[in-house]
Amino acid sequence: MARLLLRGVEIHKTHLDPARQRAVLDAVRDVVQAAPLFSPDTPYGRPMSVRMTSAGAVGWYSDRTGYRYAPRHPGGIGWPPIPDAVMRIWDDVTGLARRPDCCLINWYGEGARMGLHQDRDEADFTWPVVSVSLGDDGLFRIGNVKRGGRTESIWLNSGDVVVMGGEARLIHHGVDRIRFGSSRLLPRGGRINLTLRVVT
Ligand code: SIN
Ligand code: FE2
Repeated sequence: MARLLLRGVEIHKTHLDPARQRAVLDAVRDVVQAAPLFSPDTPYGRPMSVRMTSAGAVGWYSDRTGYRYAPRHPGGIGWPPIPDAVMRIWDDVTGLARRPDCCLINWYGEGARMGLHQDRDEADFTWPVVSVSLGDDGLFRIGNVKRGGRTESIWLNSGDVVVMGGEARLIHHGVDRIRFGSSRLLPRGGRINLTLRVVT
């Protein structure tokens, strides 16, 4: 349960023990059943290699016209509520009374990756972003608040929780690759990342 600090990003190694990882996974499966994963298009026209869906009052969405938060899943239904087991992780690591209104669920299959980016579609950057890793290991790259410059990478394992807040709230980050099949949490392989955000 070590806590590391890398460029202002807090990394809580193995914050979730295997039993809690399974409980969170079960809750995520319920969300995905109600609001199926989809592959959004980027504004640059290419579909993302990561499949995603959301829980909460709003969900993250992207298409040719840009990135935004949407009140509905592309299938037309409202997003399911953020599960309690997930809210508890936010409470643990932030201690904030204000809770997130979006939990983005990213699913990485073999070969999926996410390019370096900032999380900047939210209204108020004083609230942190909390990210939870489940399943296969992912190579997480951390850059700088400004574009460019040197980067550092760290493997995120199932149960790790990352907090990007304060000076690191707008830091560039991405996932270069996953070690497909490295975890036994998801028997058929893959990595799930949850990001919790205060959007409005
Ligand atoms: C993200 O930045 O949205 C995902 C980060 C991760 O998958 O660890
Ligand atoms: Fe992000």
